[in-house]
Amino acid sequence: MNRKSFLGTIFSGVFISKFGFAKNAPGVFAEPFSLPALPYTYNALEPHIDALTMEIHHSRHHQAYVTNLNKAIVGTPAESISLDEIIKNISKYPAAVRNNGGGHWNHSFFWKILSPQKQQPSEKLLETINKNFGSLEKLQSEFNTAATSRFGSGWAWLIVQDGKLKICSTPNQDNPLMDIAEVKGKPVLGIDVWEHAYYLKYQNKRADYVKAFWNLVNWQEVEQLMK
Ligand SMILES: [Fe+2]
Repeated sequence: MNRKSFLGTIFSGVFISKFGFAKNAPGVFAEPFSLPALPYTYNALEPHIDALTMEIHHSRHHQAYVTNLNKAIVGTPAESISLDEIIKNISKYPAAVRNNGGGHWNHSFFWKILSPQKQQPSEKLLETINKNFGSLEKLQSEFNTAATSRFGSGWAWLIVQDGKLKICSTPNQDNPLMDIAEVKGKPVLGIDVWEHAYYLKYQNKRADYVKAFWNLVNWQEVEQLMK
């Protein structure tokens, strides 16, 4: 039984993909992808990221990626393919799927690696960081450089590549899981450096936003993603 007929049989409107998003069953609801709820309130990341930025970022920007992704895949085989699979083979899809599918994946990831409570990496994670970068400060410095030097809009990432931690960045809504990525790997931490992520509070001072980001890192989630 394929997924479509299984879902049709149980007449369930919702499919939880391995990424954890609700994915509506084709034919039951017109739109297969939906906006995931934030795991905290809009003001939870204050003062580092303000509530209005979070509200606009989540309810308008992320929602727009979801809406436009659904529009881009309607009536195509991608309607019944998981977002992870689409991202892995993104070179086979049109630009609208790359931009909006990437936007949906990246933002869903971003919300999960932020925490309202300041966290420290565990001893075990610190050991791994020290082994790969020498120190947490060196990791942060390399990450900050990737984030601040990304020209225009994009993302900076901490990835696992062949068992090693690496820093890289991608333009627009690309990410290191995409087959077209210059540096490929599994993201375990990332920062959105589009102006919509910080401009209301930080204006042109991207470096201040990147510095503040370190107060919000959900290190527990980072460690979990590394497993
Ligand atoms: Fe964004």
